[in-house]
Amino acid sequence: MDKRFAVILAAGKGTRMKSKLYKVLHPVCGKPMVEHVADEALKLSLAKLVTIVGHGAEDVKKQLGQKSDYAIQAEQLGTAHAVKQAKPFLHGEKGVTIVICGDTPLLTAETMEAMLNEHTNKGAKATVLTAVAEDPAGYGRIIRSEDGAVQKIVEHKDASEQERLVKEINTGTYCFDNEALFRVIEQVSNENAQGEYYLPDVIEILKDEGETVAAYQTGNFQETLGVNDRVALSQAEMYMKERINKRHMQNGVTLIDPMNTYISPDARIGQDTVIYPGTVLKGQAEIGDECVIGPHTEIEDSSIGSRTVIKQSVVNRSKVGNDVNIGPFAHIRPDSAIGNEVKIGNFVEIKKTQFGDRSKASHLSYIGDAEVGTDVNLGCGSITVNYDGKKKYLTKIEDGAFIGCNSNLVAPVTVGEGAYVAAGSTVTEDVPGEALAIARARQVNKEDYVKNIHKK
Ligand code: UD1
Ligand code: CA
Repeated sequence: MDKRFAVILAAGKGTRMKSKLYKVLHPVCGKPMVEHVADEALKLSLAKLVTIVGHGAEDVKKQLGQKSDYAIQAEQLGTAHAVKQAKPFLHGEKGVTIVICGDTPLLTAETMEAMLNEHTNKGAKATVLTAVAEDPAGYGRIIRSEDGAVQKIVEHKDASEQERLVKEINTGTYCFDNEALFRVIEQVSNENAQGEYYLPDVIEILKDEGETVAAYQTGNFQETLGVNDRVALSQAEMYMKERINKRHMQNGVTLIDPMNTYISPDARIGQDTVIYPGTVLKGQAEIGDECVIGPHTEIEDSSIGSRTVIKQSVVNRSKVGNDVNIGPFAHIRPDSAIGNEVKIGNFVEIKKTQFGDRSKASHLSYIGDAEVGTDVNLGCGSITVNYDGKKKYLTKIEDGAFIGCNSNLVAPVTVGEGAYVAAGSTVTEDVPGEALAIARARQVNKEDYVKNIHKK
């Protein structure tokens, strides 16, 4: 196999987005467009990936990190000018160079692979990926000669009325013989409607030189959608969502209402898990087998074991075990680790807490900066008083402890193994194992008090 290189064009500002965020950083299903493109390209066993950055260069670099090399295009003079900036990385290399736009987030590695196959089979110097668009407005059109061979690509703004009738469009994805690309790119001029150096002109130049150029037409226009404005962004979101959801359903996940289920491209979900509407799985969300998630649940960068039920709740950057029951209306905040067979009930907030197997906080609690052992029962309204206005302190509740309702545990404090805390206590000192702590005022009953007031 020829050595493969790829160039992603991502220097444009994306004026039509009308946004402070650079176009290629707009997320589709939670992941920036340019990262979708880079991740697919990297599946092609590349020797080098170069991303052309300009507007928002630092932000794009931060997003893609080590996945790519970067070349700066200081002024956006067009797509051919953009590719030229990759010269220091690719000049003189033998092999095939794939060029992809950073604003085509739905493009798959399979389709690029098919284009590369066509390129090799035809012995072409350049191959363009094309598609048939229902509404081709805005795209470059593929102009073919009578024998069907690709002649050139005409931008919408430069196209004649006749040419605008053509529905076969340039998807903005190509592969080139690397040496031929960097040789002829010097010949591209900017004498056109937009005064830009157009990469598609390379096709016509090569053709005129007598080289073989080819086109690979994909049957799937959706996949090649170029996102220039927020209308297209919403379409991309919809198509990507359909694709992701379909994959999970085919893998044995039940989605009760796929239209209203939002799963990040990187989420993993086990077999026989059922997901109810309004569920959002963000980032690296990992769900085990036979779980029931939702309705109306958000899980971000967290791993959930198997047979766990989470309803109307939020879980963020945490780990949850097997056979756990969470919600409705619970909030698991970052750095928490919930064990197995745990119950976290309604209106319970957990933060930065280790919560042991079979322990329970069934109602109305705040547990933050805590280590909760196994088989602990936290009564309704148990609170860890973890913050003195400056620092956070640790609360330890050892195995088998029982915290009565409406107790405050003023940290730093430890409740020993098997100890009891009486309801309504404000615990400020450690409780030894097996002890009972009562830390509340004694009740006084004043006989006939009410009757006597009324008499006055
Ligand atoms: C481009 C193609 C068009 C094709 C369409 C497919 C050209 C001239 N036109 O049009 O034939 O149908 O894509 O979606 O190539 N960029 C740079 N530097 C620049 C200009 C652009 O890096 O100087 C980047 C942009 O950030 C973007 C990509 O190149 O990611 C495409 O640019 P864009 O302006 O969106 O081109 P289109 O008008 O969509
Ligand atoms: Ca575009």
